[in-house]
Amino acid sequence: MGAYEIEIERTSSPKEKPQGEALGFGRFFTDHMFLMDYDAGEGWHHPRIVPYGPIALDPAAKAFHYAQTAFEGLKAYRTDEGRILLFRPRSNLARLNRSNERLSIPPIDEELALRALKELVRLDRDWVPSEPGTSLYIRPFIIATEPALGVSPSRQYRFVVILSPVGAYYAQGIRPVSIHVEPDYVRAVRGGLGAAKTGGNYASGLRAQEGAAEAGHAQVLWLDGVHRRYIEEVGSMNVFFRIGDAAVTPALGGSILAGVTRDSAIRLLRSWDVPVEERAISIDEIVEAHESGGLKEAFGTGTAAVVSPIGELHWRGERRVVGGGETGELCRRIYGSLTAIQYGRAPDPFGWTE
Ligand code: COI
Repeated sequence: MGAYEIEIERTSSPKEKPQGEALGFGRFFTDHMFLMDYDAGEGWHHPRIVPYGPIALDPAAKAFHYAQTAFEGLKAYRTDEGRILLFRPRSNLARLNRSNERLSIPPIDEELALRALKELVRLDRDWVPSEPGTSLYIRPFIIATEPALGVSPSRQYRFVVILSPVGAYYAQGIRPVSIHVEPDYVRAVRGGLGAAKTGGNYASGLRAQEGAAEAGHAQVLWLDGVHRRYIEEVGSMNVFFRIGDAAVTPALGGSILAGVTRDSAIRLLRSWDVPVEERAISIDEIVEAHESGGLKEAFGTGTAAVVSPIGELHWRGERRVVGGGETGELCRRIYGSLTAIQYGRAPDPFGWTE
C-alpha cells in the first residue's frame, strides 16, 4: 500500500442519527474519523479512516502542556438535489498550514488532506442533514503527541478530522446581538498567535466572553493589545462596519485571523461595486461615525454563523444602537448570496464549492 493510500475501517456499530432534536452546534459526531500520524524521520504517514471514538494519548503528550495544536473549521452542505458541496476547503487547508508554520508543526500535504476530507464526508454522507440551514461541520485538527515535557517542538503529531451535523444558526431568523467593547482583556497581539487558528486564542477569550454574558451581551468586541484603540475581531468572528457607502474591516496585521468568510464577503462586496476598505479602525472612529449618523451597520463574519449582525455596542458606559437595531442591508445581502452559493442554489462565479 502506498504511503498516500487512505485505509478504511468501517464501523460495525453505526450510531443512531439525531432525529428531530435540535442539532445545535458541535454536539453530535458521525460514525467515522480520519487519522494520520507524524514521526520525526518518517514524516506524515498511515492516513486512515476508522470508527469514531476516543483516542488514547500519553499524559505527557506535549499538546496537553504547551498547547502545540492547530485546528480548522469548514462545512459541507446538502443541495436540494441531494449533492454534497464543500465550501472553499482548499482555503482552510492552506490556512491550517499557515497555523502549523506558526506553531512549529510540520506541514501537511494539502492534496492528501483534501482527499481525506472528501473520502470521510462521502463515507458519512448520510449524516449531512437536509433541513433548511443545516450543514455538516468539519473539524480538522493537529495535536502534538510526543510524551516529553521539554519545551521544544514535538517530534510526533496526530492529524484528526471529525464531522458534526449542525443545526440552522438562524432558525428564528437573523437576530442582531448586543456587543460589549472589551476595555481590559485582549485576544492577541501582533507577533503572537492571533493570525493562527490555535486553541490558546479561544481559551484566552473565554474570561471576557463570560464577563460580557454576565452583563447580558452576546459577545465582546476586541481592541488591539498595544493601543487598546483599534478594533480587531468580534467574539471569534471577523468584523465589518458600513460607514457611509463603504464596507470597512480591520486589515490583517498579524493579530487577526484571516477568515475564509471574511475573504468571501470582501470578494462579494467588491463584485457588487461596494467599496471595501481593509485598514485600521479605531473605536473612536466608530463612536464619531455613530454620532454623525455615518455608521449604518456592523456585523461579524465566520463559518459557524456566516454573518452575525451587531444591534448595539456598549462602550464606556454608553449604549449605541447600530442601524436601528435591525439587520443591515449589506449583512443581509452577504448572508443571502453566500448561503445560496453554499447550498448550490445560485451560480458559483468564484469556484468556491466542490
Ligand atoms: C466561526 O466559524 O465563526 C468560528 O470561529 C468557529 C468557532 C467554533 C471556533
